[in-house]
Amino acid sequence: MSGPVLNLLFLGDVVGKGGRRAVAAMVPRLKQKYNCQFAIVNAENCAAGAGMNLSCLREMPGVDVFTSGDHVWDRKEFPQEIEGIRNVLRPANMSRVQPGKGWDKFRNPAGGDVAVISLIGKVFMKESAYCPFETAEQILTQIPITVKCIVVDFHAEATSEKLAMAAFLDGKVTAVLGTHTHVQTADARILPGGTAAITDAGMVGGADSILGRNVEDVLRKFRTGMPAKLEVVETNIRCEGVVISYELNTGRAVSITPVSEMYDPEKEI
Ligand SMILES: [Fe+2]
Ligand SMILES: [Fe+2]
Repeated sequence: MSGPVLNLLFLGDVVGKGGRRAVAAMVPRLKQKYNCQFAIVNAENCAAGAGMNLSCLREMPGVDVFTSGDHVWDRKEFPQEIEGIRNVLRPANMSRVQPGKGWDKFRNPAGGDVAVISLIGKVFMKESAYCPFETAEQILTQIPITVKCIVVDFHAEATSEKLAMAAFLDGKVTAVLGTHTHVQTADARILPGGTAAITDAGMVGGADSILGRNVEDVLRKFRTGMPAKLEVVETNIRCEGVVISYELNTGRAVSITPVSEMYDPEKEI
């Protein structure tokens, strides 16, 4: 290990108002608990369970960077709004005519810069997306050499595609963190080249839900095949993600710790 080690917090897809409320309270709490000065949160489901907009993002001021995914444009106001928000990313490998940006570098108050890259998968997902592997390769050539910490949110369905991306970027980035399935996987680890990886970080959403939606509604939809409104579960929220520890001087990950904590509104700060 060389030099100082910094920690950063990453949380999976935030679902609805309950998720936003939990993030607002829990990000400062988790930053303190894990000694993190930097937090990245996937916000693609933060507006009523599908999409995102400026007013919802403003409810989560402790977050340093918001990433997204297939639901990024679900709110009609967001394509306009995204141009004015510095710390939000849409997947980098979508059409170049789409507004917003797919990666950027951000100052970590604890030291150095953090480059964050948002990518979307193609398998069972966005077949119209450009190759996420080629896009990742291109972005890596654009990131200044002085930026050592690089975090990739790979928003994808297939575990195979996510594992392949982690292997592809091992040794080139600090972390490859999967999102989209809303279910935290038990495979958090440091790859041989020094990249932290987890197939899916999980979600910030109802603990007693199906991916953040009402169990009965989802069951009815599966059993009848009829269109159904799937209510967002706004209570009993679990916050899931990971804490990454990395060397400031090299960007190499030294540990990845899964986080899965219930949000207790009584303890609001
Ligand atoms: Fe999601
Ligand atoms: Fe998604």
